[in-house]
Amino acid sequence: MKFVLASKNPHKLVELQRILGDMDVEVVLESQVGVDVDVEETGETFEENSLLKARAVMEATGLPAIADDSGLCVNALAGAPGVYSARYGGEGLSDQERYRLVLEALRGQMDRGAKFVSVVTACFPGGDVLTARGECPGTIAYAPQGENGFGYDPVFFVPALRKTFAQMTAEEKNAISHRGRALEKFKVELEGYLRGLDQ
Ligand code: IMP
Repeated sequence: MKFVLASKNPHKLVELQRILGDMDVEVVLESQVGVDVDVEETGETFEENSLLKARAVMEATGLPAIADDSGLCVNALAGAPGVYSARYGGEGLSDQERYRLVLEALRGQMDRGAKFVSVVTACFPGGDVLTARGECPGTIAYAPQGENGFGYDPVFFVPALRKTFAQMTAEEKNAISHRGRALEKFKVELEGYLRGLDQ
């Protein structure tokens, strides 16, 4: 089955392809099927925004579409940046400028607890919807470390592995990440869904 990924983020495509690669599933970017859908993420939850994105791309392409809405929730910032992670600090900032804002906001804070959240949603042309949520707990580091990944990876520290996401290989990150966990649950749902279609 082919899914169009409702995202222009090539990092997400690579992560999704790696994780779903052992199923008979192909994930392609919007640009590969000739669409460029601009979805306003007006939802207040990861679930709402994930559904908005997947539905818009399914409607624009007529193909099954998959979306991930994800973000970093910091305890001492009352869950911010949360659903606004991609826009934290305003439009036009670099990833580095955004994570530096988080470090700045946490200066002097004792509680550095945080979690990444991902909600994966698939919308099918017949109207069916599958969704799965994954979370990864961690802490915000005192300084960025590591070169891999994207977004807030250099400042998201996972105590169990004593590494930031940016210090992990793709395999290490996928095994424990919010998106990895959401996609593992999603895979189980998709397998059940596809079995149902066969009957
Ligand atoms: P979305 O693409 O609208 O879901 O925005 C998600 C934003 O959350 C991204 O732009 C990143 O800033 C952040 N984010 C989500 N997942 C990750 C991750 O795995 N590592 C680092 N940052 C992430």
